[in-house]
Amino acid sequence: MSPHSAEARAIADLFDQTLIVCGVLFVVVAAPLAWALVRFRARGTQEPPQLHGSTRLEIAWTIGPLLVVAWLFALSVRAVGASDPPTDHEPDVVVVAHQWWWEARYPSGAITANEIHVPAGKRLVAEIRSEDVIHDFWVPQLARKVDATPGHPVRIWLSADAPGTYDGACAEFCGAQHAWMRITVVAQPEQEYEAWLRHQLEPASVTLGVEATRGARFFREHTCAECHHDGPAPGPNLRHMGARTTLAAGLLDNTPENLSRWLADPQALKPNSHMPSLQLRAADVDDLVAYLEGSR
Ligand code: CUA
Repeated sequence: MSPHSAEARAIADLFDQTLIVCGVLFVVVAAPLAWALVRFRARGTQEPPQLHGSTRLEIAWTIGPLLVVAWLFALSVRAVGASDPPTDHEPDVVVVAHQWWWEARYPSGAITANEIHVPAGKRLVAEIRSEDVIHDFWVPQLARKVDATPGHPVRIWLSADAPGTYDGACAEFCGAQHAWMRITVVAQPEQEYEAWLRHQLEPASVTLGVEATRGARFFREHTCAECHHDGPAPGPNLRHMGARTTLAAGLLDNTPENLSRWLADPQALKPNSHMPSLQLRAADVDDLVAYLEGSR
């Protein structure tokens, strides 16, 4: 309802136009019907006159709807073209759907999860992929909805005409945690975006206190780093995790308390997710929280 890109505006306009056409049709049909119900209601026991056939009326109510449908079809064809024009360059960001989170890979090598940053006012080509089952990328204020099908990457335009955060979700049932597969697009002024992108390639600027140092070692030496590492990985890249707004693809606000709960028993919070409950000791959880929340 509040589009923030040319592509999304084309879809919103089609909705408005269709709503107006259907609203007028509703009145055109419902008003005479209501009038007829009152005007020709039964009076006493006398049967009203029975009429059969009217060539003029039948021609009118065949041609009228035909023209309306043809008009809606033309509007739809125009909107499809405007909301999904062909892309003309290699992807600026590759968005990979996983059960149940989103990965964003940038050509520079930066990788993030569940939060895609884009420069406001610039049109990007986004390639949408899936690593496992069919998902569907949908950020309604910015772009068309598009399936993420394994082995069949597709490209769409992704842009936001003003800085802001734009929420999206997986829109194709993809398993137990389909509902918690949220995505946020963060549109920033171009310089801010460039700085963000550069920072993603740098080591996290974590102040390594005693706890965070222990947490970093634990992360490297135990199973965490097997799934959460740089490069295409089975789990989200956590290098700058402390700077993200949510945990577990939108399930929890990113706070130290919530991260503790999550690390202590992810299966209790997001059953069937591929993050196992590792029965970590409370002290190890505290160390990991200090390390991960400090990684910005
Ligand atoms: Cu992924 Cu629904």
